[in-house]
Amino acid sequence: MLTKVYGSAVFGVEATTIVVEVNIDKGIGYHLVGLPDNAIKESNYRIAAALQNNGYKIPGKKITINMAPADLRKEGSAYDLTLAIGILAASNQIKSENIEKYIIMGELSLDGGLQPIKGALPIAIKAQEEGFTGFMLPTANAKEAAIVGDLKVYGIDNIKQVIDFFDKGTPLEQTIIDTREEFYKNLDFPEFDFSDVKGQESIKRCMEIAAAGGHNVILIGPPGAGKTMLAKRLPSILPPMTLHEALETTKIHSVVGKIKNMGLMSQRPFRSPHHTISDVALVGGGSYPQPGEISLSHNGVLFLDELPEFKRGVLEVLRQPLEDREVTISRARFTVTYPSSFMLVASMNPSPGGYFNDPDAPVTSSPAEMQRYLSKISGPLLDRIDIHIEVTPVPFEKLSEERKGEGSVEIRKRVTSAREIQTLRFSELENVHYNAQMNTKQIRSYCKLDEKSKSLLKNAMERLNLSARAYDRILKVARTIADLGGDTNLNGDHISEAIQYRSLDREGWLG
Ligand SMILES: Nc1ncnc2c1ncn2[C@@H]1O[C@H](COP(=O)(O)OP(=O)(O)OP(=O)(O)O)[C@@H](O)[C@H]1O
Ligand SMILES: [Mg+2]
Repeated sequence: MLTKVYGSAVFGVEATTIVVEVNIDKGIGYHLVGLPDNAIKESNYRIAAALQNNGYKIPGKKITINMAPADLRKEGSAYDLTLAIGILAASNQIKSENIEKYIIMGELSLDGGLQPIKGALPIAIKAQEEGFTGFMLPTANAKEAAIVGDLKVYGIDNIKQVIDFFDKGTPLEQTIIDTREEFYKNLDFPEFDFSDVKGQESIKRCMEIAAAGGHNVILIGPPGAGKTMLAKRLPSILPPMTLHEALETTKIHSVVGKIKNMGLMSQRPFRSPHHTISDVALVGGGSYPQPGEISLSHNGVLFLDELPEFKRGVLEVLRQPLEDREVTISRARFTVTYPSSFMLVASMNPSPGGYFNDPDAPVTSSPAEMQRYLSKISGPLLDRIDIHIEVTPVPFEKLSEERKGEGSVEIRKRVTSAREIQTLRFSELENVHYNAQMNTKQIRSYCKLDEKSKSLLKNAMERLNLSARAYDRILKVARTIADLGGDTNLNGDHISEAIQYRSLDREGWLG
């Protein structure tokens, strides 16, 4: 007898429905065709044990299973449940009415329990588009799939539940979440809040500007100055994610199976990979291309702590996605694209020993060591960082003060208004939404200077020996400073402040 059951394969952030045809005939054998990988080929051992332990079996006949479309490579262990139910139905051990109305997926344990799968959200979206009634999947992934409104999602703990549902009509409990309600409920409670940061008013101002214009930042300071603490709080002052952004970000996290018992992600992601990370783990890749850290940071913040410690090659591969805001990974048979629109926050100690120009420093570095350390970050990557800021530790008295600093929710209000001005400014442009994205031509038209500010900038550039590349960045940041103040035209104050945020362009650093 021939039975059809349905699963799904995820490529990039999109799913494709997979038809699993199971045919049982006289004879003996177990044939699995249609480009399954090794994990799927091994599934018969898990399926056999899981069925046995629940009072069923793989029949001793000739079983042929075809996974279609045949030219699409299927991978992973998530088809265990699909195949098991298909075998039971094809061998008449269970009734198979309505079986084709569901996507059924999950990795089986030997006792019939279910292990989580990857990509539940994209699969659910596709299932709904294609008119399936429901999606049966491991309980751990049920909330994530239930974001999709018009699809019945059933979290399954053991294969027996699915068997009884089809065979005896035992109802399954539907997972229902109110996506909107959950999304808005969590918006105003950032995990890390700027009110925890004592003092550091000027650095907080700088972070506000970075957030307002979407500018990449590098924080330079000795150990313990609070660089990590500040970076972690940046997502909390970025404008709240829109529902659409939240969905995009959640999809990517779903693809790598990183969503644990959660529905929609309502907070912008903050990712902080260690400096030993490989380039594949950072930008994505592998034989079945998985998203990397840059895509997991999509719509949020990627924090590269101790930037000069990263391998040079790893930093090189960041350049393209920083520019394109997405990364494309090509393989012989297919190409996938993952979005990767993130804000880059980097940190570094001012020298390999941690200190710079500090007579009391516990360690000192020779000029040659300094040069080697700094040379790693020069060039093209630094070219994409608009704001450099030196962080000095707050004195002990400040740290022990009771008074709380301004909270993230307040700061975010100003950031959001500045963003609204930018959205309006760039409404005609397709790929530009905030100041940091302006190209040279757009800078010329949106950052016009009067004669006075022009000469101020010229003098400062000569006096501080700022490089030419600093020029455009200063104008962009000045534009954001003006937007935060609600000023239409750029003036000398905006320019002077923006000039302060180019530490690394000054002589003595990378010069
Ligand atoms: N302004 C501050 N307000 C409150 N706590 C602070 C402040 N600055 C530093 N701290 C405290 O000091 C600790 C160390 O800060 P953090 O780890 O952010 O420093 P860092 O600059 O990243 O140092 P490293 O170079 O060692 O990574 C923080 O966990 C925090 O408790
Ligand atoms: Mg740190």
